[in-house]
Amino acid sequence: MPTAILSALAEEQLGLIELLEQPRKVSHAGRDFWLGQLHGQSVVLALSRIGKVAAATTSTALIERFGVRQVVFTGVAGGLGAGVKVGDVVVATDFVQHDLDASPLFARYEVPLYGKSRFASDQVLSRLLFEAASSALASSNALELFPDARVHQGLIASGDRFVAGATESVALQQALLGAGHAALAVEMEGAAVAQVCHDYGVPFAAVRTISDRADDSAHIDFPSFVDQVASRYARLIVERLLGLL
Ligand code: ADE
Repeated sequence: MPTAILSALAEEQLGLIELLEQPRKVSHAGRDFWLGQLHGQSVVLALSRIGKVAAATTSTALIERFGVRQVVFTGVAGGLGAGVKVGDVVVATDFVQHDLDASPLFARYEVPLYGKSRFASDQVLSRLLFEAASSALASSNALELFPDARVHQGLIASGDRFVAGATESVALQQALLGAGHAALAVEMEGAAVAQVCHDYGVPFAAVRTISDRADDSAHIDFPSFVDQVASRYARLIVERLLGLL
């Protein structure tokens, strides 16, 4: 059974497709899935696409159609937590949907009928991903880009919104904190993938490189980071992870 490597954007996936041995492309559900071998491991590469619904569809297809045994997400995110800088990496411990609000029927952020707000990453896979990210950041390739980069572990908030304003970012962070959710980063897919993987009992782990601070310059920082850095980072981390599996 293959490991799924999910990326949000084509730029993040590019370096991985180049490395794929015996590549085979399968089109399904309006998406391209790349099957092959990477570092001796059987993998399926896929784009989650952007937003929670698209990511849920891709994850479901990976599990139902391609029978993946685990799902690893590599992507970028906006930094929310203090000290989470551009170039840092966040390995998710768990996920919350920051735009989910079925109150007063359910508590703010609670996923209806699950009795909880957060879905956890798989601990074993996340520990390996943390090791892989730490070793990738220590490599000369990454150090020359961001010499002070750190790997964090913590909560990631997902929602169908690109957060691109300091006021909005602080409000989002404070609202989450008020409900006991100290999020390190914000993105648009992770919580959806985590929920699908929870439903199917498939291990899931995610790593996000910080491309912007979800502030007033996020719309400038994000595309330039995606162009110049995201693919290199994803490749470094995934190569190391596959060596540990
Ligand atoms: N992914 C990368 N940066 C982001 C941001 N600022 N908001 C949502 N998703 C992101």
